[in-house]
Formats: sequence, C-alpha cells, structure tokens
Amino acid sequence: MEVVVRSDAGEAGRTAADIVQHALRRGVRTLGLATGSSPLLTYRELVRRHTDEELSFASVEVFLLDEYVALPAFHPQAYAQVIRREFTQHVDLDPSKVRAPSSTATDPVAEARRYEEALAASGPIGVQILGIGRNGHIGFNEPGSSLASRTRPKTLTEATRRDNARFFTSLQDVPRHVITQGLATISEASHLVLIATGPGKADAVAAAVEGPVSARCPASVLQLHPHATVVLDESAAAKLQDLPYYRHVARHKPASQGY
Ligand code: F6R
Repeated sequence: MEVVVRSDAGEAGRTAADIVQHALRRGVRTLGLATGSSPLLTYRELVRRHTDEELSFASVEVFLLDEYVALPAFHPQAYAQVIRREFTQHVDLDPSKVRAPSSTATDPVAEARRYEEALAASGPIGVQILGIGRNGHIGFNEPGSSLASRTRPKTLTEATRRDNARFFTSLQDVPRHVITQGLATISEASHLVLIATGPGKADAVAAAVEGPVSARCPASVLQLHPHATVVLDESAAAKLQDLPYYRHVARHKPASQGY
C-alpha cells in the first residue's frame, strides 16, 4: 500500500486526478467512482482538465460503488444523480455508460445480482476511487461486512445515516437501505485509490492502514490488495504511526515509479 500525504484537500484532489489521468493515458477504460464529499475536489480537477487540457472521457465506462434503496430515480441525492451533477455531465462521457444499481428496484437482491453481473461483464475496473466513512466503511460496507462480500443490499448504521443527513432535509429522509458493491467485488479493481481529508477521518484512516485486517474496519481490506494508494491531507494522516516512513518513501520514490 502506498500512503501519499498532501498539504491540503486541494492537493490531495489533484493527486487523485493525476492517478486517473495517468491510468487513462495507459489505456484504462473502466473507472469505479465513489460519491460523497471526499472525491469532489478530484472530480472538479478532472472536469477542469477536460475543459482546459482536453482530457477526454469519451471511451470511458463508469460504475458507481453504491446507491440508496427506495429513493425516486430523480431524487437529487440518488447517487446516479449526484455523480451526474458533480462530474459526468461536465465531461464528454456517454451518459449511457454511467452505471449504478437502481434505487427504485422492487427486488434489491435481484438488482444487486444484476449489477454484480454487469460489473463482471465489463470489468475489471481499472481505477476505483474510494472514500472512507468515519466507522471505516468503504462503499456502504459497514463494520461487520465480510471481506469476501459481493454486491448486495445492506442496512446503514445509524451513525452513517446521521453523517449523511447533511445531504438531506432531515435525518428521517436518509434511506435505511442501500445496494453496495461488496468488499471482494471492490477488491477486483486493478488499482484502489482511497481519498480521505479532514480530522474526522484520522481514526478510520489509522485503523484501515495500520490496524488489523478485520471486518470491523472494512477499509482494512486495502491491506490485502496488491495495488492500493491512500491519498490524504495532513489532518487525515495525523494519527498514522508510521507517517515519517511514508514521507521518507515519497521523498525517495524512484522517478520511474509512477502510481
Ligand atoms: C459513497 C461511498 C461512501 C463514502 C463515505 C465517505 O459512494 O462509497 O463510502 O465514500 O461514506 O463519505 P464522505 O466522503 O461524504 O465523507
């Protein structure tokens, strides 16, 4: 695992954008995208590079990590809408190539299976962007999720519902259920890129990077992945014990070695 610490959230966003851009140059055509606030500066930077530097997404296919269950398809907080608004509508991505589990499926179990099959048919994902919940979740794999889990419906913890209430009018409006890619599904991506900024993420980042690999901290599954990059700002990195070593590695990284 590579841990990259940047001075602030803007620099962290640019670093994650660099990773995506390098991957596209190398021929990666499938991106996995998280929603939530962590990757927003990355998406903003990718939009800027599209507008100012002709970075093209024309042949890219996108898979979202997760989606709420029982939200109207055009609800502004349905993740399919969020990603369109925050990123994909501002670049030359074909809207029909942006995939997400349906938030209106009458049978979420069947919908999860369909989504897993769609991923398998198009995969593997080249670069998977991830955020992390304060309880260590990735996607919506809450603590206790099997490290071998596949795409399925999950029940959100009340802590996650409270964290996400900021996007809704009230806590009551936050759905209880979601469909999320499983931890094993996520792990099939060729490169996992986790972005975390702000002091509220410092405990979860320390548990994920330096704690035991455990279902109690779902993001710790990154320790099992052959190519995982954790992009942090200083405040999210503050509780890492081996921070001096991560900085040392970054300072002495061979020029030939990209992300
Ligand atoms: C959302 C997702 C979640 C978020 C996490 C952090 O698609 O995958 O795991 O990344 O809840 O959310 P923010 O970035 O809003 O703090």
